[in-house]
Amino acid sequence: EKGTYPHFMLKEIDEQPFVMRNIINQYQNENGDLKLDDDIRAAMKEADRVYIIACGTSYHAGLVGKQLIENIANIPVEAHIASEFVYNMPLLSEKPLFIFISQSGETADSRAVLVEVKRLGHKALTITNVPGSTLSREANYTLNLYAGPEIAVASTKAYTAQIAVLAILAVDSARAKGIELDFNPLQELAIVANAMEVLCDQKEEMEKIAREFLAVTRNAFFIGRAADFYVCLEAALKLKEISYIQAEGFAGGELKHGTIALIEDGTPVIALATQEHVNLSIRGNVKEVAARGAYTCVISMDGLQEEGDRVVLPKIHPYLTPLVSVLPMQLISYYAALHRDCDVDKPRNLAKSVTVE
Ligand code: M6R
Repeated sequence: EKGTYPHFMLKEIDEQPFVMRNIINQYQNENGDLKLDDDIRAAMKEADRVYIIACGTSYHAGLVGKQLIENIANIPVEAHIASEFVYNMPLLSEKPLFIFISQSGETADSRAVLVEVKRLGHKALTITNVPGSTLSREANYTLNLYAGPEIAVASTKAYTAQIAVLAILAVDSARAKGIELDFNPLQELAIVANAMEVLCDQKEEMEKIAREFLAVTRNAFFIGRAADFYVCLEAALKLKEISYIQAEGFAGGELKHGTIALIEDGTPVIALATQEHVNLSIRGNVKEVAARGAYTCVISMDGLQEEGDRVVLPKIHPYLTPLVSVLPMQLISYYAALHRDCDVDKPRNLAKSVTVE
């Protein structure tokens, strides 16, 4: 039920701090330590390469998951779009482990890969919000997102839940491999939950940004580097899906290789600047597009902010920035769709669960 909310999407965006806390509770034991299935831990320890398979928003969470698993657990990871993987299957490593990420657990494109993976005799883990779903039943292992039902077609809380669970999986795998870490995901996720709450209280500013930048435009661009680039891909999908604005997420460094030609007077460009190691370069990109007439909006993070930034996110652990930086993007897309009189919860031509290939 929507309760007092005008749309499920807004309710689900607001639920994200609770979802983070729920994940913390579900994945900790009585001593407050991480608790994960022994079989999953063994499968991750055994794997010489992880293949993440997903579609849409879940694929975008998979891109963040790739970084987390590689950086934290030191296991090579490839992330693939399910519908393409079927035709372009890479040469597999000797001991692959497949991770299917799917909110619904019913996505036909992902299932087609799972069927093939099983035929080849490989192991699969499904990360899903629906434990009894097809992808969960047919895989060897399941991790639950504990996000509660997601009704709006635009995925929001499932995306952040997927990244949180992937971070937990990465840390558990690192421990299984004897890797020493000074990163406690449960503690850091609690900080994320508080930061999300702060942002949920800034709806007026997000509405203003949507009105100013997106109410009448034909197109919009999101730029970022490193983990911010992955969030830009998700931001663009969210905006396209519910507001029908032609939106794209670009890697800051790629602008000069072609995409900057798209910038005209007044083109809205929303930049994410939450990554310390690339802050100078993304700031440079913002200047480049502004010099060509773009109307720019920068979303940065405490400690990296510059005068004129429209949103400054609370500081959180560098591994987990996408969990927080996506939230203003979700809200901005939501308000843009409202301003354009779109059907936020049920955008045209789309279904919540895509059960055909
Ligand atoms: O249920 P799934 O996570 O497998 O769904 C995958 C995509 O269809 C889904 O994420 C889609 O891209 C969303 N509508 C995006 O908001």
